[in-house]
Amino acid sequence: MKIKTCTTTPYDDQKPGTSGLRKKVKQFQQPNYLENFVQSVIDTVGNLAGKTIVVGGDGRYYNREAIQTILKMAAANCVGKVLVGRGGLLSTPAASAVIRKYGAEGGFILSASHNPGGPDEDFGIKYNGNNGGPAPEQLTEAVFQRSLEITQYNIAEGAETDLDQVGVSSAGDMVVEIIDPVSDYAELMEELFDFDKISALFASGFRMRFDAMNAITGPYAKEILEQRLGAAAGSIINGEPLEDFGGGHPDPNLTYAKELVDEMFGSNPPDFGAASDGDGDRNMVLGANFFITPSDSLALIAANAHHVKGYRQGLAGVARSMPTSGAVDRVAELLGIECFETPTGWKFFGNLLDAGRITLCGEESFGTGSDHVREKDGLWAVLFWLNVLAVRQEPVADIVTEHWAKYGRNYYTRHDFEAVDSEAARGLMAHIESQLTHLVGTRIDGRTISYADNFAYLDPVDKSESQNQGLRIGFEDGSRIIFRLSGTGTVGATIRIYIEQLELEPSRQQQDTQQTLIALIEFASSLSELESRTGRSTPTVIT
Ligand code: G1P
Ligand code: ZN
Repeated sequence: MKIKTCTTTPYDDQKPGTSGLRKKVKQFQQPNYLENFVQSVIDTVGNLAGKTIVVGGDGRYYNREAIQTILKMAAANCVGKVLVGRGGLLSTPAASAVIRKYGAEGGFILSASHNPGGPDEDFGIKYNGNNGGPAPEQLTEAVFQRSLEITQYNIAEGAETDLDQVGVSSAGDMVVEIIDPVSDYAELMEELFDFDKISALFASGFRMRFDAMNAITGPYAKEILEQRLGAAAGSIINGEPLEDFGGGHPDPNLTYAKELVDEMFGSNPPDFGAASDGDGDRNMVLGANFFITPSDSLALIAANAHHVKGYRQGLAGVARSMPTSGAVDRVAELLGIECFETPTGWKFFGNLLDAGRITLCGEESFGTGSDHVREKDGLWAVLFWLNVLAVRQEPVADIVTEHWAKYGRNYYTRHDFEAVDSEAARGLMAHIESQLTHLVGTRIDGRTISYADNFAYLDPVDKSESQNQGLRIGFEDGSRIIFRLSGTGTVGATIRIYIEQLELEPSRQQQDTQQTLIALIEFASSLSELESRTGRSTPTVIT
């Protein structure tokens, strides 16, 4: 096989965001765009020669082409072996599990997560290290710096790899092994959860609906839920992964998982409903006529972990991203374990997980996970809930209501304003920040602001610092308003406003969330001059 060294010129926009480099497919299709980024990663990581790496993606448009390019570049850069999911498929958590199981040096995961797919939509690529987790910020920053000065890349010339046959082949001196994308992951789930109990639950007539949103989790859910656990045929809807996700937006929330939500709030709903996103790391869980916020789900998972096989031995600690509600904090307090508040993005959990400081972690953005991998894990969360339901034998709504009565309820909402003019969004953030110091002591709707700052994080493990992670306004009673700009959007800017309010009194825990939070929502909008600066008054998505 012939190795070519090609000259190239840098692109100036290859700065990875919250979760890797995400751009429109058309941008990735520019000459050498993907090659520049892959070579920048290989150069920066520096030690891949002779090593094993993992490659797979969520199956979206451009996945296969990108994998062929990466394989040829890996061969030309002396990588020893590449493990590839059959069909180029690996869910993000499965890729993390495979990296860990086979002791790989790292892996390329191809996905733009919950963003739409297709020729005019989004694509993404990120590098995970040998712990199976996303590269830390220092590495992604170094990759970006490298991409600004890159002048050449290495690529092998030769035949394409057949991605659809499980087995071993070679590309020059490099070994390519096509693996079943599901089996290693399914095995890991069997270690963590009590499959016999969950099977018995399904056998007793328990009904669930899992919406795979025509994305990666279809094959995983069919194998695990239907084949291994005996969920009724048809429990999985939209189970066929499609390059454009059927034209949908593969984001498991109340807006985009409409088919599932309609059924769960319709007549004769199943007992349990769940959905996952484009690459399988997010989850939404619902009971009959009942939505569980991701922040609550994390708290409930922590509070019920002693019911579950893989977590019965106790939790080392828990962590949540800063905008995630404080619900899990109170569970940690009662359990007497540490609780960490990290910046948005799964990569910030990595050090805590590696150091054994936390067992569970989660984000309000429909992400929950544990130390079993170094990514959030959609199906894992679904199985966790199923295991808890199999043990407790109570309806979802009763379990959550009982939890609120014991720990309090964090009314919580996130308002997203998508595709806002970038300049206007930056102006809005600067405007809020300029007012922060004057806010402390102000009373809003009977609550006093006790702190207002721009969140900075000092990693307790490696002592690295991350600044500018979102503007926080905190009240004496635990209520909070947070403003952030998204780091994953690909068009203009996305403004996220997160609002929460703690209610300890059980008789006031059954109210409408948006109504309950109205005073704080209105304050957030006037403080930020949202409408005059962005022309928007209604959020694109409310969760
Ligand atoms: C969003 C979520 C964040 C999550 C990330 C990747 O990032 O808010 O919690 O880790 O997607 O799934 P954002 O667009 O807010 O930067
Ligand atoms: Zn995702």
